[in-house]
Amino acid sequence: MTNPTTDWALEADGLVKVFGTNRAVDGVDLQVRAGTVYGVLGPNGAGKTTTINMLATLLRPDSGTGRIFGHDVVREPHIVRQLIGVTGQFASVDETLSANENLMIFSRLLGLSRTEARTKAADLLDRFGLTEAARRPLKDFSGGMRRRLDLAASLIAQPPLIFLDEPTTGLDPRTRGQMWDTIRELVRTGSTVLLTTQYLDEADQLADRIAVIDRGRVVAEGTADELKASVGTSSLQLRVRDSADTEDALRIIERALGVRGALSPEASRITAPMADADRIADLLITLREAGIHLAEMSVQKPTLDEVFLTITGHPAEDTESAATREEVPA
Ligand SMILES: Nc1ncnc2c1ncn2[C@@H]1O[C@H](COP(=O)(O)OP(=O)(O)OP(=O)(O)O)[C@@H](O)[C@H]1O
Ligand SMILES: [Mg+2]
Repeated sequence: MTNPTTDWALEADGLVKVFGTNRAVDGVDLQVRAGTVYGVLGPNGAGKTTTINMLATLLRPDSGTGRIFGHDVVREPHIVRQLIGVTGQFASVDETLSANENLMIFSRLLGLSRTEARTKAADLLDRFGLTEAARRPLKDFSGGMRRRLDLAASLIAQPPLIFLDEPTTGLDPRTRGQMWDTIRELVRTGSTVLLTTQYLDEADQLADRIAVIDRGRVVAEGTADELKASVGTSSLQLRVRDSADTEDALRIIERALGVRGALSPEASRITAPMADADRIADLLITLREAGIHLAEMSVQKPTLDEVFLTITGHPAEDTESAATREEVPA
């Protein structure tokens, strides 16, 4: 290794956590360079939160090691806790107090003077578009406002490493965009961010590198471009009219696009990664010449489901994941 260990904000080696007979985290390796955003992408139940909890000293690994800026999470938890922030913690502060009061208390706990705390709170509320809501009690906040306030609270201490566990799940597109800006701001001002997400586009927008995690294991790792290359830049989806033609259609598609197609569980539907949309015309002609008729055809940006299908060879089969599918405008 040419890099000194302090180049790494986070290193995980073979992390394992078993609940009963469920290997929730099953040998996870991660390396996060300081000053970057690292995305951990995976469906419900993949082991994202469990991984974070071990790295944030909230849960003891059954085996493997985690280091934060070179400090072992099991042997040096006190040092590690000074180096990290975990969103969600802040939400446990008093619900009956206002956003402003919560930020003031948080600032004071971190050793700021009353005047500094007041300035800091006002500045953060402004930056997060919460000035108007500043005097409202937290219990009246929407999910999006609450999460922005969580992030604002992380900015007071501005720890070197911030864990964000699904910071935008369930938020509307505009609020998501604001969260993304905030996360970029955190990194611009010196923090390292590890975020988990179920959304490929979020990892794409934010993360310098991404680990795809499935059933407790890292199944792919790389930059967004590298991952997209592995699933194609977009994905072709089609359904043949006669399901008996499915196998033939799949072979033709694989030959025409030069890729490995993937049959979805619903037999007559075919999903294939596609780097070059120009080839579609040739493909359609070939299908017609083979006498294969189509019921449906569409071209979409890759979704997490396709990343999974392509990388793991099986769909992200948790039933919940169907409800969280990305909505990509056609
Ligand atoms: N405290 C616990 N006791 C028992 N099983 C648990 C516990 N925490 C998590 N699990 C199980 O471990 C697996 C991984 O859960 P985890 O919460 O880490 O997934 P996740 O990737 O964060 O999912 P989500 O996207 O739904 O938040 C799941 O099968 C879950 O049911
Ligand atoms: Mg989780």
